[in-house]
Amino acid sequence: GLISTKEMFKKAYEGGYAIGAFNISNLEQLQGVLKGAKAKNSYVMIQASMSAVKYAGPHTLVEMVKAASEEIGIDVALHLDHGPNLEAVKTCIDAGFSSVMIDGSHYDFEENVNITKEVVDYAHSKGVVVEAELGVLAGVEDEVSSDVHKYTKPAEAVEFVNRTGVDSLAIAIGTSHGAFKFKGEANLRFDILEEIQNKLPDFPIVLHGASAVDQDTIATCNEFGGNIAGAKGIPVDMLRKASSMAVCKINMDTDLRLAMTAAIRKFFAENPKEFDPRKYIGAGRDAIQAVVESKIDVVLGSANSI
Ligand code: G3H
Ligand code: 13P
Ligand code: ZN
Ligand code: NA
Repeated sequence: GLISTKEMFKKAYEGGYAIGAFNISNLEQLQGVLKGAKAKNSYVMIQASMSAVKYAGPHTLVEMVKAASEEIGIDVALHLDHGPNLEAVKTCIDAGFSSVMIDGSHYDFEENVNITKEVVDYAHSKGVVVEAELGVLAGVEDEVSSDVHKYTKPAEAVEFVNRTGVDSLAIAIGTSHGAFKFKGEANLRFDILEEIQNKLPDFPIVLHGASAVDQDTIATCNEFGGNIAGAKGIPVDMLRKASSMAVCKINMDTDLRLAMTAAIRKFFAENPKEFDPRKYIGAGRDAIQAVVESKIDVVLGSANSI
């Protein structure tokens, strides 16, 4: 069934690991993630952006996640990723999501506090946990491509958490969304993470934009008709270091998209006579499961957390 993140974050914080939060918008992505988690006996979060919620339908998503969780045999949190406003949050909470994010990171500090507080009041009255965001990630967040990365200010993080009563906080330490994260060397500001961790003991921190963008997967896409150039992600050793610290949730979407796309491209190229969607989407599903299992071992350290 659907569960809260309270316990899993507490255990992750104490155990020096992180919970993987994987974006989905359809059945096979969901099954791939849950089967990977089940195989590793690891908690995971299923998350959907508002555009994914619109694509699949909020009630369809909730019922599908509940049913798959029961059939595959693993409890899971269902989370709204980057909720844009209170209305979106209400839609998802009322449909049955167990966790939501309100992303007020593009507003000024006071405005971000206000909209987050409003969401926290509503969500907590329904027993739902809330993630917020402070700082701005460079890249394609908010459909705006920006070179400007506003690192989270540790003192502001403390004030923000105290004033909003939020359950977890996404911070900006150099990651970004999508497949094109760095032109030069990857660099994460672990000094900022450490300062926040010292100022907010036991408080769960979230890392967005944490796909590693595996170069073999890119090569497979391109070998079988794709055209993806210059893609670059976060080195896995940096992610594992973050998960050993106060980071309790690591968001990954791009790596699942790339793995599914590579597998389906390869399947079509190698099986030109096949037209049963279960065969090619099934190949994508298997690829997602493999990525999730590898993330649990290499990036998250969350195996056997259940
Ligand atoms: O952070 C954003 C996620 O990768 C979701 O992207 O809005 O295309 O579903 P999406
Ligand atoms: P990636 O684009 O790096 O997979 O990040 C996903 C994310 O942060 C979703 O909220
Ligand atoms: Zn994100
Ligand atoms: Na951690």
